[in-house]
Amino acid sequence: MSPTRTSDVLVVGGGIIGLVTAWRAAQRGFATAVLDPAPGGGAAQVAAGMLAAVTELHFGEQTLLGLNLASARRWPDFAAELTDFTGHDLGYRRCGTLAVALDADDRAELRELHVFQRQSGLESEWLSGRECRRLEPMLAPGVRGGLRVDGDHQVDPRRVAAALVTACERSGVVFHREWAERLEVARERAAGIVTREGTALAAGQVVLAAGSLSGRLAGLPPEVRPPVRPVKGQVLRLTVPPRYAPFLSRTVRAVVRGGHVYLVPRENGELVVGATSEELGWDTTVTAGGVYELLRDAHELVPGLTELPLTETLAGLRPASPDNAPLLGPTGLDGLLLATGHHRNGVLLTPVTGDVLAHALATGSLPDEARPFTPRRFAAAALTEQPV
Ligand code: GLY
Repeated sequence: MSPTRTSDVLVVGGGIIGLVTAWRAAQRGFATAVLDPAPGGGAAQVAAGMLAAVTELHFGEQTLLGLNLASARRWPDFAAELTDFTGHDLGYRRCGTLAVALDADDRAELRELHVFQRQSGLESEWLSGRECRRLEPMLAPGVRGGLRVDGDHQVDPRRVAAALVTACERSGVVFHREWAERLEVARERAAGIVTREGTALAAGQVVLAAGSLSGRLAGLPPEVRPPVRPVKGQVLRLTVPPRYAPFLSRTVRAVVRGGHVYLVPRENGELVVGATSEELGWDTTVTAGGVYELLRDAHELVPGLTELPLTETLAGLRPASPDNAPLLGPTGLDGLLLATGHHRNGVLLTPVTGDVLAHALATGSLPDEARPFTPRRFAAAALTEQPV
């Protein structure tokens, strides 16, 4: 083994969740390191960046809603702080979202969602099809109605990732550009990581923030292995030429034949169309079928979209947990913390995750708002399962 390098906090994974954790830890005075072959990569390179606590509300996810809303409230200050500190523009747009229905079944589903949103105390206004098209004239004439949610915004996750790399560098975070191979445990405590290249990285505390790969690290005792799995999302990027602008003025989303499609227009002319949801392991192939389905559904929603140049196709992996909520904070192994399992909400949950993990690293406990997301809620089940 090569000579040991030591930090107070070693974050495994340099996606936006790992980076925000490292940045906040460094701000608290911890000597912090990030282990990732390509910091700033991962799911943020694919994600559309919707901050959609209200329009992505799902039945049975009320507890998660509380954390999503807490993070949505933090986004304005978080974006301002990160931009002030790094000089990076994050593409944060307070543009709102319109969720529309294309047929009678979609309309009924959206009506139910509206009732649920109102019961949950959320701001959401029902609009007729004509009112939807008045807001967004490119919408298909057949749109039957929709929900106007002025509080669901967007940010550009690629810019957030780049800004967080800069923020970490400026805060003295050390980057080890290698793959994590194995967790080292000594005297019943997480003691560090050995990399694939054989480098030993010792640490006072280890934060596992490796997205859908988090459960694959060797050396994890079974009772603390996070039950995360990859859920593939294929995403397209189109470009709106200046002569077509403004093509859409806000995020537009819909359920089309049971599948979710969303269109996220950026100020720089990029139009992100997402996303498939596929359980295929760690496969990130972009398929003809995936691209076809996205274009078919998006075209039904906004017919003029097929005139636009298609500039990029990509697939990423959402780190999903059994209850769709993240695993945050201390585990049953001293010195090992988790920040993973963010599934559909990684970008939205970035600010609150950074704050929660910094608190946990400093105090050994979770703040009240994050208690339901303790990794310990899965510990008993983990003992009876096979490692992934
Ligand atoms: N939050 C968008 C997605 O997971 O596709």
